Amino acid sequence: NAIDGQLLVIFGASGDLTERKLIPSLMNLFQGGHLPESFAVLGVSRSDMDDEAFRKKVVLDNPHIPETVGNHGHRKEFAKLLHYYDLGSYEEDYAGLNERIAELDNGIGSPGNMIFYLSVPPRIYETIASRLHDQGLSSEESGTRRLIVEKPFGYDLESARSLNKGLQRYFQESQIYRIDHYLGKETVQNLLVTRFSNSIFEPLWNRNYIRHVEITNAESVGVGKRGGYYDSAGALRDMFQNHLLQIISLVVMEPPIGPEAEAIRNEKVKALKSLRIMRDPETLYAHTIRGQYLAGEIDGEAVPGYREEAGVDPDSTTETYAALKFYVDNWRWAEVPFYVRTAKRMPTKVTEVVIHFKSPHHQIFRDIGMDSKDNKLIIRIQPNEGILIKFGVKVPGQGFQVERANLDFYYSDLADQNIMTAYERLLLDAMQGDATLYARADEVEAAWEFVDPILKYWSEAGDVVTYGYSAGVWGPKNADDLIEGAYGWRNPGA
Ligand code: BG6
Repeated sequence: NAIDGQLLVIFGASGDLTERKLIPSLMNLFQGGHLPESFAVLGVSRSDMDDEAFRKKVVLDNPHIPETVGNHGHRKEFAKLLHYYDLGSYEEDYAGLNERIAELDNGIGSPGNMIFYLSVPPRIYETIASRLHDQGLSSEESGTRRLIVEKPFGYDLESARSLNKGLQRYFQESQIYRIDHYLGKETVQNLLVTRFSNSIFEPLWNRNYIRHVEITNAESVGVGKRGGYYDSAGALRDMFQNHLLQIISLVVMEPPIGPEAEAIRNEKVKALKSLRIMRDPETLYAHTIRGQYLAGEIDGEAVPGYREEAGVDPDSTTETYAALKFYVDNWRWAEVPFYVRTAKRMPTKVTEVVIHFKSPHHQIFRDIGMDSKDNKLIIRIQPNEGILIKFGVKVPGQGFQVERANLDFYYSDLADQNIMTAYERLLLDAMQGDATLYARADEVEAAWEFVDPILKYWSEAGDVVTYGYSAGVWGPKNADDLIEGAYGWRNPGA
């Protein structure tokens, strides 16, 4: 379906995200013929570059565009769509920028539709929004105007609220697209389809049949070159407040009345608001665990500890591992524990949701399963995207012994369709004005409301330990005790 002409203005065009994600995604969309016919990109930042230098940096010499994507001719053709504007110092020349925008907009014959993508530190979001507004660029009188903002969206509840207020002074909420790249992942979206298009899952999706829910988000990488940013953020802000709470809201939510953005987002907000906020120190102490990686080995290679990474305070207590146990206070989930962990420097990269069903209430057969006794539904978000169901079958031979068997579906078994990456999908959605996969203001604030007291407790209570764990193991030992009884965490591949 054809998309109307668009001018995409990227602030922070000389930065890492533009080179690593945005331009490679646009190149893929170009290759696939998905970009609108009238289309141009205007990169804006404070580096001294001209159009040619920008094209060279982000397309022709960009190591993040795989060799397999397009030949040299295609790249050159794509590069021609890219332009650059040097905004100079901080008292920048927005009038000049406005002129350049008008010139490009006329040049491509677009009907005045523009997307402003802010890939800059959040502290300057509001300034940019206000300057765009002063130039008349937020007004939708002639064409659509959309503002995409990257994470982190705020540092805590208060700053997120003030950021929302600040942006809403200059743009309508319906023009603001808060990006969370996990929502662009096919398998995250598939959570909705799995739940609400099958009559075999939804009837069981509640406290009557589910014993507990477990979510793991593990990465084998460390903080890399982002030590400076990460040390003031930590795993809870970097991954949990956004990506994981988005996944959790899709697992927890009630069926939306339809597939429209507002219907889905309304249910997600309701889900987030039903998470039981941990406030008393005893619960916070018992149900939250933070850890930090020490030097260790990943895939046979020695890697440094977190405190030795560039940009990290050598005495830092910032968490690179966070595990939480919490409840959801509503009819569907009353008293079903949720266990969620996210971490860097784990043995492997994996994100999965595990639904642990209750055991049958009367056990007739003897179970010799290697696993725990329950049925499990495992939704693999990445890698090996797919769905695994574990169920009991009879061990061949005498008697009635039961062991676990697998029903395993891999996304890759579907037709060899080219699955769009998260940024491709999200950029296209924004061009089409579909905000379903973007976070709404109240959603972001509800997520911070849950996270805020944990962050406060961790930073203010004197007795919160940051447990060390060697790089390449599944986190600190203390986190194993969070899941009671014979269950424990499921460590994929372990
Ligand atoms: C980012 C975090 O949002 O997500 C990074 O800032 C993290 O720290 C990344 O590595 C993980 O994304 P993905 O898509 O590789 O799981």
